[in-house]
Amino acid sequence: MRMVDVISKKRNGEELTKQEINFVIEGYTNGTIPDYQMSALAMAIYFKDMTTNERVHLTMAMVESGDQIDLSAIEGIKVDKHSTGGVGDTTTLILAPLVASVGVPVAKMSGRGLGHTGGTIDKLESIKGFEVELDGNTFSTLVNKNKIAVVGQSGNLTPADKKLYGLRDVTATVNSIPLIASSIMSKKIASGADAIVLDVKMGSGAFMEDIEGARELAQAMVQIGNGAGRNTIAVISDMNQPLGFAIGNALEVKEAIDTLRGEGPADLHELCLTLGSQMVYLAGKAQTIEEAREQLEAAIKSGAAIEKFKTFIASQGGDASVVDNPSELPTASYTIEVEAKEDGYISEIVANEIGIAASILGAGRTTKDSEIDLAVGLILNKKVGDKVTKGESLVTIHSNYESVSDVIEKIYQSYKIRQKVVETNPLVYDIIQE
Ligand code: URA
Ligand code: CA
Repeated sequence: MRMVDVISKKRNGEELTKQEINFVIEGYTNGTIPDYQMSALAMAIYFKDMTTNERVHLTMAMVESGDQIDLSAIEGIKVDKHSTGGVGDTTTLILAPLVASVGVPVAKMSGRGLGHTGGTIDKLESIKGFEVELDGNTFSTLVNKNKIAVVGQSGNLTPADKKLYGLRDVTATVNSIPLIASSIMSKKIASGADAIVLDVKMGSGAFMEDIEGARELAQAMVQIGNGAGRNTIAVISDMNQPLGFAIGNALEVKEAIDTLRGEGPADLHELCLTLGSQMVYLAGKAQTIEEAREQLEAAIKSGAAIEKFKTFIASQGGDASVVDNPSELPTASYTIEVEAKEDGYISEIVANEIGIAASILGAGRTTKDSEIDLAVGLILNKKVGDKVTKGESLVTIHSNYESVSDVIEKIYQSYKIRQKVVETNPLVYDIIQE
């Protein structure tokens, strides 16, 4: 087989076979296919698209390019959740103990990652003593016993995706539905998930800015998942403002604690119940979505959810007393209020700009090796639809620097204020099952 023939076949809009896709991915991973040929193929895919069969073959070829996590020692159906981007997304921290508290096994592998705030692993490390490096045996024992454990990423998962993603980044081929969908799904499948719940964000802070694009991406991922034998559902949710109030690592842990007690922000609470009920349903712990939702609501109300969070922290060496005393979490030296310059209604909070503001404070990483300041971040005092009067606080900055003029500037750029009453967007636009 010759790569040039595969490229011209795709350029002509024909469907590639499983053998051809495997040839490409194996060759590209081991270096026998050079970047320039892979670039040409990525561009051909960008213009000519891929059929569902091709997308499944591409995903599975990337899964097989590296290590695959074996979760077979863990009892039950392992459901994983993935959010496509978003700023200040605390859902994993809430969903993991929440669904575990109704008996769904959560065997979560999580990254640190680059971003405006840290990954789930960084957030958990704001809890004193919390250990994110567990050997495989301890990990599966903990999940079987408590239904929950979270471990830092290890192993060489989907090297083909790493290499291809890097190439796409510099060849203007990132924004291709078959390539995005196979990239995301390959990582979920390689991490050992039996079933997958996707949270596809839509809006100014997301990959997809409109409902058509979001629906197309969601459908692509659901079809790949189902085609690969993993029951998959996608929720399309709003990202025209950050979720919840908190953006920052320790601040989000505090917000997760509030939400697990039923005292969190309404949007975060609602999205966690929506995603959580899909997870419980896919795990076979409820006959219907409604029944799943009732179980989760009951777990919050009875205190089972927050108790599960304590068990989870303690079983990984962390100091679970922070749950009852969140003031023990790292705190910043200064709090600074950002006041509204005019009266009106909040019409949008550009998530990306707010994310940059948090990252300037040190809440996120700019390079793989940079240090995160776990204490710093932002609390949004006003959200879309809220009325605001001049001088009221829009945002509270938690900072370890006294001077934050550049952060304040970003916050003003992010907050759009209008004179008319603003209608809020729905939180959940659609749920895609096939
Ligand atoms: N996230 C991924 O992991 N891959 C993509 O291609 C896009 C977003
Ligand atoms: Ca948040």
